[in-house]
Amino acid sequence: MNRNTEQQYIYPIFEKMMTREDKEALLKQRSVMVWFTGLSGSGKSTIAIALERELHQRGLLCRILDGDNIRSGINNNLGFSAEDRVENIRRIAEVSKLFVDTGIITIAAFISPNNELRKMAASIIGEENFLEIYVSTPIEECEKRDVKGLYAKARRGEIKNFTGISAPFEAPESPDLSLDTSKLSVEESVKLLLDLILPKVSLGM
Ligand code: ADX
Repeated sequence: MNRNTEQQYIYPIFEKMMTREDKEALLKQRSVMVWFTGLSGSGKSTIAIALERELHQRGLLCRILDGDNIRSGINNNLGFSAEDRVENIRRIAEVSKLFVDTGIITIAAFISPNNELRKMAASIIGEENFLEIYVSTPIEECEKRDVKGLYAKARRGEIKNFTGISAPFEAPESPDLSLDTSKLSVEESVKLLLDLILPKVSLGM
């Protein structure tokens, strides 16, 4: 059987798959990617969780992807070298794309420490779907909070390549929104996010 004949069998099946638009109509929402970037301890996950709750209460289906659930599962073979961080973000972006294509508002909370990584994520997911949210809490504040005790360990040299201490963090050039949690409450941050996101996810019916 030649290749063309084989493709005749595959293509019609693909064509019959329900589309993103079908799923968005079913869910009565539009999907979007909400990509948080910022230092460890900046507040990404806290804001992501509070945002999901608010969207859910408005009848909107969301999926959060964050360091703890991804790095203990699909990415449990990856560390924090520059190379592993690329693979971490690449897989997260591919998984996010599946959710976005299912009509789901997808919220990612990863350090994603440089523009190149974030650009890669946006190009995998589709720039038109991608909102970049910079949680810009200063490192002094993140280190003061040190919720996981990791900054202290990094300062003592017990953790290598720790972002902000012994590995770089590059701030986004033109994020859709910046949130400094040393100045804003969680509620204030979520309010700003809702103002940005709700018009984009509304089907306008
Ligand atoms: S990323 O740089 O690859 O995007 P990711 O968001 O997945 O990082 O994981 C960051 C989390 O892993 C941190 O919040 C922290 O809890 C933990 N961690 C462990 N080692 C490091 C390290 N060397 N640098 C940064 N975070 C680390």
